[in-house]
Amino acid sequence: MALVTTTEMFRKAYNGGYAIGAFNVNNMEIVQGITEAASELKSPVILQVSKGARAYANHRYLIKLVEAAVEENPDIPIALHLDHGDSFELCKDCVDGGFTSVMIDASSKSFEENIAITKKVVEYAHDHGVVVEAELGTLEGVEDEVKVEAGMASYTRPEEVEEFVSRTGCDSLAIAIGTSHGAYKFRPEQCTVNEDGILVPPPLRFDVLEEIVKRIPGFPIVLHGSSSVPQEFVKMVNTYGGNMPNAIGIPEEQLRKAAKLAVCKINIDSDIRLAMTGNIRKYMAEHPDHFDPRQYLKPARQAVKDMVARKIVNVLGSDGKA
Ligand code: G3H
Ligand code: 13P
Ligand code: ZN
Repeated sequence: MALVTTTEMFRKAYNGGYAIGAFNVNNMEIVQGITEAASELKSPVILQVSKGARAYANHRYLIKLVEAAVEENPDIPIALHLDHGDSFELCKDCVDGGFTSVMIDASSKSFEENIAITKKVVEYAHDHGVVVEAELGTLEGVEDEVKVEAGMASYTRPEEVEEFVSRTGCDSLAIAIGTSHGAYKFRPEQCTVNEDGILVPPPLRFDVLEEIVKRIPGFPIVLHGSSSVPQEFVKMVNTYGGNMPNAIGIPEEQLRKAAKLAVCKINIDSDIRLAMTGNIRKYMAEHPDHFDPRQYLKPARQAVKDMVARKIVNVLGSDGKA
């Protein structure tokens, strides 16, 4: 199967009460880990490339890696998506370069500016058979060079979504309902402590999601910043020389609930980074005499695969849907 757009994936996910995982790719081990997990679980998958990934790995290398993954895994639908495109030019470059989906993220601009730039990207992308994700509302955290300070984020305003979607013609909409980017999504003082002494973050704003769905029924919703920061991996990092105090994510059951509603795409990157880093640190500590990168990248690739499999089964519910 050649690379596909997300149209069919989202239609089936919406109707089936599950979501498609969108995982960021930066190197060969990550591409292999994600697609091996998706293939074994017969799950559709979205591989996404950020501006930072392009700067790190070079767009051409990433496209070739993704093409190889498509050839190696012919039985599952795979989409190639630009994550957080910040300009028309960047989106155009990705459309021209073979991506099947692009995100234009003009969420930090005014409503009218966001509409204008999104509409321009949609016109170009649709002319070339490519779909577009847009964003309304802002998330806290770091995405590429943009850092949104804690307290400066704003939930998506349900009263704006209908006009935004109809005026831009976008194909899916990323919304802000309390997720945020990175491994430090909440400060401890924002959390409550449960009976086991574990910090529990504030729940996602399902009331906002429901209001949005009422206004644009059937329209695919996207959640960014959806890593759960599993504490066993934070512990692994910290045990083997790391220092990640108070790393807190979105509980997996909250995301599973969102996936059963109108959320068709869930973006997960930090959990992959955490799993790789924890396993590389562990391997290095246990094998101080090893210096062949293949030795420590092998468990790191396996950790990516295990993490993606965990997400497909526990969070997305997309197993068996390819
Ligand atoms: O939301 C951003 C993604 O986690 C990609 O991160 O900009 O460091 O590549 P990056
Ligand atoms: P996390 O940092 O929560 O993994 O979010 C990733 C993301 O939204 C990529 O666009
Ligand atoms: Zn994001």
